[in-house]
Amino acid sequence: MIIAVLGATGVSGGFVVTEAAERGHDVVAIARNPSSNPADGIQIATADLQSGRGLVHALDGVDAIIDCSNTPSGSKATQFFTQAHQNLLQARKPSVHYVLLSIVGAHAVPMAYYKAKAAQERLWAADPHASLVRSTQFHQFAEQMLHRMGLGPVAVIPRMRVQPIAAESAASVLVSVAEAGPSAVHEIAGPREESLVDMARHIKSSRRSVVPLTIPGAAGRAIRDGALLSATADKHGPSFDDWLTSGRN
Ligand SMILES: NC(=O)c1ccc[n+]([C@@H]2O[C@H](COP(=O)([O-])OP(=O)(O)OC[C@H]3O[C@@H](n4cnc5c(N)ncnc54)[C@H](OP(=O)(O)O)[C@@H]3O)[C@@H](O)[C@H]2O)c1
Repeated sequence: MIIAVLGATGVSGGFVVTEAAERGHDVVAIARNPSSNPADGIQIATADLQSGRGLVHALDGVDAIIDCSNTPSGSKATQFFTQAHQNLLQARKPSVHYVLLSIVGAHAVPMAYYKAKAAQERLWAADPHASLVRSTQFHQFAEQMLHRMGLGPVAVIPRMRVQPIAAESAASVLVSVAEAGPSAVHEIAGPREESLVDMARHIKSSRRSVVPLTIPGAAGRAIRDGALLSATADKHGPSFDDWLTSGRN
């Protein structure tokens, strides 16, 4: 198959590119910045989901699209995913299988970013050629947050109950879903609950001190009540501890 990966240079997208290539697929790795190669021998096809520039060319002839694109801005996320949806509808042949990576429990957390992901799911829900994979937070999310929420020697990390999964494991599911063709909703999660604050404290590649933050209001309550956890999702290892021990952070 020819599989296009949107957000190919990101945390999940990079692993999806590697996994798809290892399974023998031709991969079109799409992002804006051509200088960060996701895998040996794979060049970036530059395209911009916001302006639409380069998308038609990059998606020409592909059999499936796996969408791992993202914006770090919570307040602009709805605009980002809505614009991307519009541009993808114009650039992709309607029969091409589109696989969206979303987040377990997004609809239950009233915070700008999670609302945007829930809205993105609704945009694609009626599309007969779209599949949805909801994942819990990645093991790599701790490092992403240390970076995003860092200020000099400290990082303010929200107190979050999470059930993290390795992005490598999520990537394997995404490629399998793309291979299988349009299907129902898939939910995937890691093997057990963790505290994001504790996870961040175990990331050796960051020297930042972790300052825990209690998120106020309904969003904080939802996260503390376990809205981002799932008892029913398909569980995929390794656990965060085993992942750390394997030296992958
Ligand atoms: N991180 C998690 O723990 C987690 C857990 C569950 C689900 N998810 C979902 O998984 C998806 C991917 O998250 P991630 O953390 O793997 O992403 P990420 O590391 O933040 O990477 C984002 C990717 O999107 C690309 N991108 C950004 N703006 C773009 C634009 N205008 N046009 C084209 N490409 C653009 C970036 O490359 P350029 O900047 O070079 O364009 C990059 O490759 C998100 O939808 C997120 O909600 C994430």
